[in-house]
Amino acid sequence: MTATSRPYDPTSKTDAMDSTDATGTTDPTRTTDPAESTMPRRTADDLRATARAALERARRRTLALTDCLDEEELGAQHSRLMSPLVWDLAHIGNQEEIWLVRAAGGQDAIRPDLDPLYDAFQHPRADRPALPLLPPEPARRYVAAVRERSFAVLEDAPFGPGEDPLLADGFVFGMLAQHEQQHDETMLATHQLRRGPAVLHAPPPDPAPADAGDLPSEVRIPGGPFVMGTDDEPWALDNERPAHPVDVPDFWLDTVPVSNRAYQAFIAAGGYEDARWWSPAGWSHRVQAGLHAPLFWRRADDPDAVEGGWLRRRFGVVEPVPLDEPVLHVCWYEADAYARWAGRRLPTEAEWEKAARHDPATGRSRRYPWGDAEPTTELANLGQRHLQPAPVGSYPAGASPHGARQLIGDVWEWTASDFEPHPGFTAFPYKEYSEVFFGPDYKVLRGGAFGVDPVACRGTFRNWDYPIRRQIFAGFRTARDAAPGGAADGTADNPAEARD
Ligand SMILES: [Fe+2]
Repeated sequence: MTATSRPYDPTSKTDAMDSTDATGTTDPTRTTDPAESTMPRRTADDLRATARAALERARRRTLALTDCLDEEELGAQHSRLMSPLVWDLAHIGNQEEIWLVRAAGGQDAIRPDLDPLYDAFQHPRADRPALPLLPPEPARRYVAAVRERSFAVLEDAPFGPGEDPLLADGFVFGMLAQHEQQHDETMLATHQLRRGPAVLHAPPPDPAPADAGDLPSEVRIPGGPFVMGTDDEPWALDNERPAHPVDVPDFWLDTVPVSNRAYQAFIAAGGYEDARWWSPAGWSHRVQAGLHAPLFWRRADDPDAVEGGWLRRRFGVVEPVPLDEPVLHVCWYEADAYARWAGRRLPTEAEWEKAARHDPATGRSRRYPWGDAEPTTELANLGQRHLQPAPVGSYPAGASPHGARQLIGDVWEWTASDFEPHPGFTAFPYKEYSEVFFGPDYKVLRGGAFGVDPVACRGTFRNWDYPIRRQIFAGFRTARDAAPGGAADGTADNPAEARD
């Protein structure tokens, strides 16, 4: 049983945010010494329980995102950028049938007739409403039937290293749990684009901790090599592999993501009207698309009555833009322009990962900024627990060794980098997962957002999208080169200290 010739459906970035894949195999050329592996080998029973829990958690979220709307709304297209929710629902089941039940489990097809309908490569999102899609109830029955078979496969699946690479370390179960969670995030974005009264509800994050206002504006990441990517994260996707050394010169990174307060200063300073701050492509796009503020923002009718003067629509509720939250729903071009205006730049992907993973005490790369332990509610804002980012400076327990906060969770962070393969990349289980997206068309995002489940978020996880995309849950932080001989005490020659 090997991967079939069917593409895994990266739901492509024509489709945004949907990745998946990795090799559960061991690579003899691995960069990481196995003795230093951050991943203790799990027993088969432990893997089975973890896989089941991840799949069940994903399904609860899928149903929560679809059970709250009626049949008409589930079949509607709320934006041409997005699929009808009922397409996502059955597509989740179809991918699970193809990869888990058929390819890994070796079982007969349940509904092979559905394969073409739910193939993301065959049908761009804009065309999907016109397809003869399964209505909501049959779609629910279909995904439930597939899941029953999946759990039967899980019961008997061998997980050893000599097995089918799809099954080794339970990879295929992790892959499908990530796939479903990524669609759940995409469906959350559809909810954000949908017009109408609120149907999703969640408590707000805690207020910022007491020390948030006293944090240095930036942290220094000392130069030198670190290990980027992974060989031993069992459910890492192909584009996160292999581990390889990268030399990153000294640089400074914002301690926290850029806030709405800081971003409003950019707007107030005429940042959207001044071509100096924009790349040529960014300026052209800004003019053509008429960008003047983050997506979902509008000026308050009485700006003096609202602190900051801006309102936003968030999952059906119009509210003042909270000044201390990370800015959200900006495209790469806007992030790039803001950074230039602030006298700074976006961090490269390698810089971001070094800041998030490198442990200067041991020289080792961690799984997360705080260490190797799985995310908890004390460490990061993940998992759609809240329907918004937490204030900047939150989650002190989740800080990196250098003191950067919120690298994981809250908002995806645009990086300066194009989406390129790590040296030694091997496509698995199929090149349509990542390989066809490599190149200059896509920019890398890192860190995950409040809508991302922990199963699809880690220090090595890579997301990518077009630089014009704004419906995703993306913000950014900025960086600068460390001046030769510059201060290392956080007092810095930062020309944009006033940006906050
Ligand atoms: Fe997909």
